[in-house]
Amino acid sequence: MSDSIHIAVVGSGYVGLVAAVCFAEMGHSVVCVDNDQQKVSALQGGESLIHEKYLPDLLQRYRNARVRFTTDLSAATREAQAIFIAVGTPQSETGDADLSYVEAVASEIARSITTYKVIAEKSTVPVYTNEWIRRVMERNGVSREMFDVVSNPEFLREGTAVADFLHPDRIVVGTDSNRAADIMSKIYEPLTSGRYYAKAGAIDGVCNRDTPPPLLRTSTKSAEIIKHASNAFLALKISFINAVSNLCEAADADVEQVAQGMGLDSRIGPKFLRPGIGYGGSCFPKDVAAFRSVAEQLGVNFALLTEVENINADQKRRFLSKVRSALWTLRGKKLAVLGLAFKGGTDDIRDSPAIELVRMLMEEGCSIRAFDPAAMQRAEQVLPPGPNFQYAVDPYDAATDVDALLILTDWAEFGRLDLQRLAATMRYPIVLDGRNLYDPELMLENEITYFSVGRPTRHHTP
Ligand code: UGA
Repeated sequence: MSDSIHIAVVGSGYVGLVAAVCFAEMGHSVVCVDNDQQKVSALQGGESLIHEKYLPDLLQRYRNARVRFTTDLSAATREAQAIFIAVGTPQSETGDADLSYVEAVASEIARSITTYKVIAEKSTVPVYTNEWIRRVMERNGVSREMFDVVSNPEFLREGTAVADFLHPDRIVVGTDSNRAADIMSKIYEPLTSGRYYAKAGAIDGVCNRDTPPPLLRTSTKSAEIIKHASNAFLALKISFINAVSNLCEAADADVEQVAQGMGLDSRIGPKFLRPGIGYGGSCFPKDVAAFRSVAEQLGVNFALLTEVENINADQKRRFLSKVRSALWTLRGKKLAVLGLAFKGGTDDIRDSPAIELVRMLMEEGCSIRAFDPAAMQRAEQVLPPGPNFQYAVDPYDAATDVDALLILTDWAEFGRLDLQRLAATMRYPIVLDGRNLYDPELMLENEITYFSVGRPTRHHTP
């Protein structure tokens, strides 16, 4: 295909792997590089490694053809017109993003360059990383005409990663080079022109939009800040509604009604106003801390972010107190836990509030039977089964003979349980819902005492 660009994606984690198969779906020729031979072999064999809709199908369709997997970064660099860096930027002890993987990749690219390349940062990185990559290249003897560094942040969510990548709200390209901007525009042309969406069999988006996504060109530093500021703002929205939910509990009001009333204001919008047990995952906690640290280093007072983190940590403690007050004491209590992933639709347990709550409850002397539709295999590595912790085969198995059932992850199927069966299975029909998946009236009709977040509690009196 004449419009096809040769792309290398470095890193086969969430962002890297999804970007690689989606670029192939858009018609490009992609090499995905990872230094973990086991991962590369699994991907070559068509194993998708993460629980993500559409990924297995796309992998089957394109692997070893339009998407190849390799450990050889030098060869991939030589072939590619554009190289996307999508390696991890974990949180260091000080809260900063640890950029050692990014630096290692940049050095290796520098040693292999023979023709002009666009080097695009897809990992979430602090402002100025772009300049650091540029310096690493120059320090390794690569002249300025041989490359441009572009910031192209990714906004996909886990659980809807493929659909989000192909239906972005916006594509941000931060660069001061027209040559690099031109190549980036060609890469995203199937989306920005709408051509991809007209194709038979195109993957649908979660929120269908009427117009193709805009490509926003900015300076590199602005693009870097857009990514951190977006994630921090979404985390702020969640902490805000969580604080409001605490206020609603104190005033005997209903936070769901409040969120609806706020969200109908188009300046506020209804999304990310779901209260719960706090945000988790591999992005928000790390990115809020990194953004706070960037602000500190630049001498800017951004104490608001500290408060976002405080509210988030407090939300888990408040839920624990709720369990305690529902059961009077915790020691020796038998609980069912539904959900271990950090959110529904994924098997990812990194920084999962559910896992943290399970640990807190076990420290208080509870014994737990847990169920998650996708995350139990991963959870076993951090929560091995033992006398006080077991895995169940389904929600009803988890609920057998328990003193209370806790919903900790917003899996859609947890909102469609057979409540009669559930109540009959439990020793006491008490449900503590950390994700507000049920209408309190419905629970009452089913003779279940129901505690949720930011809503009046409905006690069933037998
Ligand atoms: C987040 C952003 O939404 C993506 O745009 C971004 O690309 C990604 O981080 C990243 O930087 O890689 P993700 O972490 O996959 O995506 O998940 P979200 O759907 O944003 O949820 C994050 C956490 O917030 C979850 O624990 C979720 O349960 C919680 N949440 C979300 C709420 O408690 N309330 C809400 O209203 C929304």
